[in-house]
Amino acid sequence: MARKPLFIVFEGIDGCGKSTQAEMLVEFFGKAGRPARLIHFPNYTSPTGRQIAKHLRGEDKASPARMAVLYAKDKYEGAPEIRKLLSSGFNVVVDRYTASNCAYQSARIKGTAAQKDAFIEWVLRLEALLPQPDVTFIIDVRPAVAFQKNLEKRGRKYLNNKADVYEKDVAFQKEVRKQYLSYARICKAKGAVVINAMAGKKMASKEAVASKVLSSLYNALLTAKPARPKGK
Ligand SMILES: Nc1ncnc2c1ncn2[C@@H]1O[C@H](COP(=O)(O)OP(=O)(O)O)[C@@H](O)[C@H]1O
Ligand SMILES: [Mg+2]
Repeated sequence: MARKPLFIVFEGIDGCGKSTQAEMLVEFFGKAGRPARLIHFPNYTSPTGRQIAKHLRGEDKASPARMAVLYAKDKYEGAPEIRKLLSSGFNVVVDRYTASNCAYQSARIKGTAAQKDAFIEWVLRLEALLPQPDVTFIIDVRPAVAFQKNLEKRGRKYLNNKADVYEKDVAFQKEVRKQYLSYARICKAKGAVVINAMAGKKMASKEAVASKVLSSLYNALLTAKPARPKGK
């Protein structure tokens, strides 16, 4: 039976295992005979991505609103590729998308929970004309555990192999996690799903997380509302 290609996003704090899960899902789709492509945002090779990298290296202390616009621009630049892949029958798996912009930039604003929610709503409107994912998985782990995992990542040239400004600080990662959970509350009806990736005090194995992702994917698709809104 022919099926509409899926657009799946992986989200979560730095070191939670997003890229790992995104790669595993692409492999799963491939083995199931359903070709899939992996896309990562930000795209650090574009002029917009290079501006973002400057901010991540701490060389440009841009405000949350200005950064949100820049992250949105990066995705609007990538949107034609996503549309092209979906319309050619590929499943598309994306590593960071709208939820990252909502969570990281709302975590940076000083304000009440209501003001942070309002910021999230503003980013959602800013990005509303992007292709909208069927499901956004938020891989949820304790910030202290993810922080350790993050140290295992090496060789990101755009950062001169160092940690970025957001990754350096566990307190900030805790705030980002809180904001991801706010995003999940606000976007529950739009396919946001939180995956608990902890097993006691440790991270669950990547296979265990992947199996939770797959069962949530089946559930989400069975209960999904039809029709993906069309972007411009
Ligand atoms: N479930 C897991 N258990 C243990 N280690 C993991 C798990 N998932 C990913 N890792 C490892 O943790 C580090 C960070 O994972 P990664 O997928 O790069 O995270 P992210 O993309 O969210 O920053 C990598 O070294 C990865 O191999
Ligand atoms: Mg990653």
